[in-house]
Amino acid sequence: MFWQQGVIDRSIREQLIRQKGMTLWLTGLSASGKTTTAYSLEQQLILAQRLCYVLDGDNLRHGVNRNLGFSHEDRRENIRRTAEIAGLMNDAGLIVIVSLISPLIADRVMAKDIIGADSFIEVYLNTPLEVCEARDPKSLYRKARQGLITNFTGINAPYEAPPFADICVNTVQLSPFEVAQQILLMANLHRQTQFGPGG
Ligand code: ADX
Repeated sequence: MFWQQGVIDRSIREQLIRQKGMTLWLTGLSASGKTTTAYSLEQQLILAQRLCYVLDGDNLRHGVNRNLGFSHEDRRENIRRTAEIAGLMNDAGLIVIVSLISPLIADRVMAKDIIGADSFIEVYLNTPLEVCEARDPKSLYRKARQGLITNFTGINAPYEAPPFADICVNTVQLSPFEVAQQILLMANLHRQTQFGPGG
C-alpha cells in the first residue's frame, strides 16, 4: 500500500479555519471529572470561535471501540484507535479533546507518538482515588470492591499518574467549568499561538 497525498495539506486547512489542530488528552481515574471537563472545554472553545470535538471513552466504546474490554491489550487498542482518530481530526484542523482513563504511561506515550508531540498536550485530572470513590456516580467502585468488576482502574487494575503532564489540575475544590478554564489558561501559556482569538 502506498500513502496517497492530495494537493491540499494541513496548513492550508488550518489557515482556512484560522486555528491549529491539536489534541488535549485528558487522563485520570474514573469519576475524576474528565467527561464533564471535556464538554465544558468544548463549550468554552466554541464560544472563543474554536472548532473542536470531544472524543470520550464511554461514547467511543459504543461504536468504533465496541469490541474492546478492559484488559491491558484492549485498553491499549482503545487508546491507539482514539489517538489515530484524534490525529486525523488534527490533520483536518480541529482541536480535539480526548477523555480516556488511559491508565498506563507507555500507552499515553504511544498516543503522543501517533498524534505528534507538537500537537499533543497531556492534561492530568488529579483527583485522589478516595474522592473518585466517594463520588462513584455509576456505582462502579462499589461493584469493583465487591469483586463484581475485575480490572477496575484504581481498585484492581493500575493507574500510573503522569510524572510530567503538560497540565496538571487538582480538581477537588473546583467545578468542571473552573477546571476547564484553568486548562485553557495553561494551554494558552503552553502553546500561545493556538488559542488566541482569531488565531
Ligand atoms: S481506558 O482505560 O481504556 O482508557 P475508557 O476511558 O475507555 O478506559 O473507559 C472508562 C469507562 O468505562 C469508565 O468511565 C467506566 O464507566 C467504564 N468501565 C467499565 N469497566 C471498567 C473497568 N474495569 N475499568 C475502568 N473503567 C471501566
